[in-house]
Parts: sequence; C-alpha cells; structure tokens
Amino acid sequence: MKAIQITGTSGLDSLQMVQIPQPKPGQGEVLVRIHAVSLNYRDYMNVMGIRGVSGPIPRVPCSDGAGEVAGVGPGVTEWKVGDRVVIPFMPQWLDGEMTQVHQARALGANVDGLLREFAVLPAGCLLHIPDYLSYEEASTLPCAAVTAWNALVVRGQLKAGDSVLVLGTGGVSIFALQLARLAGARVLAISSSDDKCERLLAMGADAVCNYKTAPAWDAWALAQTDGAGVDKVIEIGGPETLNRSLKAVRFGGHVALIGVLTGVSGDIQTVQILRKSIRLDGIYVGSKAMFASLLKAMSQHELRPVIDSTFAMEHAADAFRLMESARHVGKIVVKV
Ligand SMILES: NC(=O)c1ccc[n+]([C@@H]2O[C@H](COP(=O)([O-])OP(=O)(O)OC[C@H]3O[C@@H](n4cnc5c(N)ncnc54)[C@H](OP(=O)(O)O)[C@@H]3O)[C@@H](O)[C@H]2O)c1
Repeated sequence: MKAIQITGTSGLDSLQMVQIPQPKPGQGEVLVRIHAVSLNYRDYMNVMGIRGVSGPIPRVPCSDGAGEVAGVGPGVTEWKVGDRVVIPFMPQWLDGEMTQVHQARALGANVDGLLREFAVLPAGCLLHIPDYLSYEEASTLPCAAVTAWNALVVRGQLKAGDSVLVLGTGGVSIFALQLARLAGARVLAISSSDDKCERLLAMGADAVCNYKTAPAWDAWALAQTDGAGVDKVIEIGGPETLNRSLKAVRFGGHVALIGVLTGVSGDIQTVQILRKSIRLDGIYVGSKAMFASLLKAMSQHELRPVIDSTFAMEHAADAFRLMESARHVGKIVVKV
C-alpha cells in the first residue's frame, strides 16, 4: 500500500511516498481504508522536527483521518465492511480523564499516523461518520474540532449569551467560532489581515480585529465587552499571546490554553491569573466520548467544517507548505 513517510530531518523535503506492507487486523481490530486526512499544526511541527517525532524515523505523519471499514479481525461484531468511520486522535482515550498512556498512543507521533492507504485500529475507538458529512469533512474533526468542543463545552461550560474570543483563522479557531455560534454565544475574533477579518464576519463573528494593524487586541476585547472582559478565550498562540488573553478575559473567566504557535515557554504575568481568579485550563484534544457528543451536536444542526483546500496524496508536501504559509482559513485536507 502507499504511504507518506517522514524519512529524515530535512523538513518538508523529507516527506516521501513509499510502498509499505498492508497491515492485517488482529483480535478486536478493524482494517480501515483511509479516504481523507486533515492537517494539524502538530503534524507540521512533527514533519519539521520542531517538537521532534518521538519515535523512530521513518514515521507516517498525521493524526486525523476518515475512511471505510475494509476488514474486521476476530471478535469484532460492531463493524462491517463498508461502514464509514472517523478515527479519534488518541484511540485509547475512550472516556474519563486523559492519562500519559493515552497521550503516548496519539496517532502520528510515537506511533504511525494516517497518511497511508490502510490502517488497523481498535474496534472500540471508531465512530460512525454522520451521513451528511463527506470523508474529507469528517477527517477535519478528530483533533481541531474535538479540541474546540472540549475547550468550550466540556471544560468551558459554554452557555448561550457568553462571549468567546478566538485567535486567528486556523483549524481550532474556526471550529471554536462555529461551535460558539451554535451554542448562542457572542464571538469576538482577531486575525492577521483585513481579508481574513471579512471572512470571519461572513462566518458569523460578531466583531473582528486585525491584530497586525491594531496589536492591542486585549484593549479592543475589553472595549467590546464594556470593560468587563470576555467570558472565554480560545488561546492558540502561547507565550506571545497569553498575557493579552489574560487581560482580555473577565474576572473568573476561562482561558483554554491550547496552542504553541508562538513557542512553548515564555514570560507569563502569573499575578493576573490569581488577581482575576482566571481559570487557566490546559486542553489536550479530547476523548472518544467527547468526540461522540460533538458529532451529535454537529448532526443536529448539520454543521459543516470549513475546508480551505484539498490536495492529492502525491502533493501532501504542498498541503504542509500551505499550512506553513498560514494563508489558509479553516482546514487543509489530503485525499488518500
Ligand atoms: N492542545 C491541543 O489539544 C491542540 C489541538 C489542536 C491544535 N493545537 C495547537 O493549537 C495551535 C493552532 O493549531 P491549528 O491546527 O488550528 O493551526 P493552524 O490551522 O495552522 O492555524 C494557525 C493560524 O493561527 C493564527 N495565528 C498565528 N499566530 C498568531 C498570533 N500570534 N496571534 C493570533 N493568531 C495567530 C493564524 O491565523 P490568522 O492569520 O487569521 O491570524 C494562523 O493561520 C497550534 O499551536 C497547535 O499545535 C493544540
């Protein structure tokens, strides 16, 4: 079968299409024919060696995929050939609290990811793709959408009328915008260009700020909320944005600490967190149970993911180049 592998340390140039043996499902396992994979910033970091692929190279990248059941191993009764399935980011994290074991088995880092024609997964981790979603759309959900759902709904306890600040127009932030609107929240959004700000308004943002021309977006967010601050922040930037997020959130508000786009450590005004009783909450994707509740909510409203671009498998490196350029809005998909 065909697969894309990270074959060395030369970044995107190390991505190669290779032939590897097709895996066989064992007891309690399912063979999935992957039809579509979506990219997350983590996949880009892994290919670039920014965070380091913590397993041997070669490694198949990409955590997020959707496909159809192509075979079942002994003891599998709940799936049949042809079922359309989507695969959670951490196949072992079914419900409850996340553990180190769940995280170590996340796809596309310590273990091979899904940028390949076939993959074997535990039967118990898979979820049915709702009928209204294509494979491409379903492939966008496991990391970015589940993270936004966990941040806003599970940990954030979002309710109608809340104000949510989303940073940028990447995968997580656009899902957060869509889910916040679904819940009846008010969405404030910041982005790097006027064009992208227009796109955000068209997608339902209530107010937008270009952070390149108006870098004091924390003051903007305060002004938008009569000085009180927003109820929730989807914090995807990390050290260079977190202090502004802490200023932008209200007393007792919730900051979902999700991203590392500006680095993995830095100067943080810790006193703001206690002075304002901010709930600073580390989020790491979510469980299968969270994914199931996300799919239920999406299906109720037939919510469609925003896909920026779709690439053929042989052009996977170009998909990563688009992510690197940060020109995209929403998700980037590779058809397998
Ligand atoms: N903890 C978790 O479970 C989890 C899950 C998913 C992702 N993440 C992390 O979350 C981050 C976003 O991931 P993603 O896959 O959504 O990335 P992505 O699709 O590549 O989105 C990146 C976008 O973020 C915006 N951005 C970049 N720098 C910014 C800054 N300084 N201030 C505000 N916005 C900025 C840009 O949009 P504009 O041009 O519109 O500003 C950029 O296009 C990454 O660090 C990723 O590793 C974490």
